[in-house]
Amino acid sequence: MPKKKDLLGLENLTSREIIQYLDLAEKFAAVLERPIPFVPSLRGKTILTLFFEPSTRTQISFSIAAKRLSADIVNFSQSASSVKKGETILDTAKNIEAMKVDGVVVRHSAPGAAKILAENLDAFVVNAGDGGHEHPTQALLDLMTMRQKFGRFKGLKVLIIGDIEHSRVARSNIFGLKTLGAEVAVCGPPTLIPLAIEDLGVDVFYNMDAIIQDYDVVMALRIQLERQETGLFPSLREYRTLYGLTKERAASMKQKGIIMHPGPTNRGIEIDPDVADGSKSVILNQVTNGVAIRMAVLFVHAGGKLG
Ligand code: CP
Repeated sequence: MPKKKDLLGLENLTSREIIQYLDLAEKFAAVLERPIPFVPSLRGKTILTLFFEPSTRTQISFSIAAKRLSADIVNFSQSASSVKKGETILDTAKNIEAMKVDGVVVRHSAPGAAKILAENLDAFVVNAGDGGHEHPTQALLDLMTMRQKFGRFKGLKVLIIGDIEHSRVARSNIFGLKTLGAEVAVCGPPTLIPLAIEDLGVDVFYNMDAIIQDYDVVMALRIQLERQETGLFPSLREYRTLYGLTKERAASMKQKGIIMHPGPTNRGIEIDPDVADGSKSVILNQVTNGVAIRMAVLFVHAGGKLG
């Protein structure tokens, strides 16, 4: 794989680069099945997770991934740091780098935060979510899960439902899926669909009942409850009525269709509990694949060598 210092998004990756991450992740997934699921690849390397926004899945799976690769891992969260005292993100990162870390995994509410760090640090930087911009490792683990189920991307029909406007997960998935030859559509309330989204090569729908039966993959996005105050749709009840993944809607999907969600889920709003836990759901497969994907990403960017 060509050596790029950082992973900031999927927008500028080639299909070859994406497939190389996925292939390497499959090798690490096999390592994770062993009785002793460790490799010495990153022994002596130190990785920092620098999270300025809450996270369960991403921060924990990067930590597990680093440990499985025998790297040292340091976890940082904003609430316990000098950021509270007015230090900038760049000063924080520079101070941490001065302690000789090799890589920084960063999550921040500002689009472009990971890029600024990447441009100013010698350490490699992985974007773990920057505002509504990109979340590349989430999309890679989603792609890995889709490939395991369908074995192909060309012609695969993927429907992403909900708050596309604010979703870094949707953007990264659209970039990755389009690069790999999938057909992508988005569906949601008009207020949550960005203007000119068609320019990314996706179809736009507002009535999910008219189309859900045509898709191999249905991905529900989290309704960002913190934005509900802003009146982007009338009520959560109406949202569920029009766009919630109910048992009836799941039953109307293709027999081999799968349901995905990046988490955290709002059960009973964008997805019903029976559907999240049902036979079409691959939500926990996504979480499992997250460790292997993050091992692959850390391995590549820390300059690891396959044995
Ligand atoms: N999917 C995702 O990014 O989850 P977390 O916010 O829990 O990391």
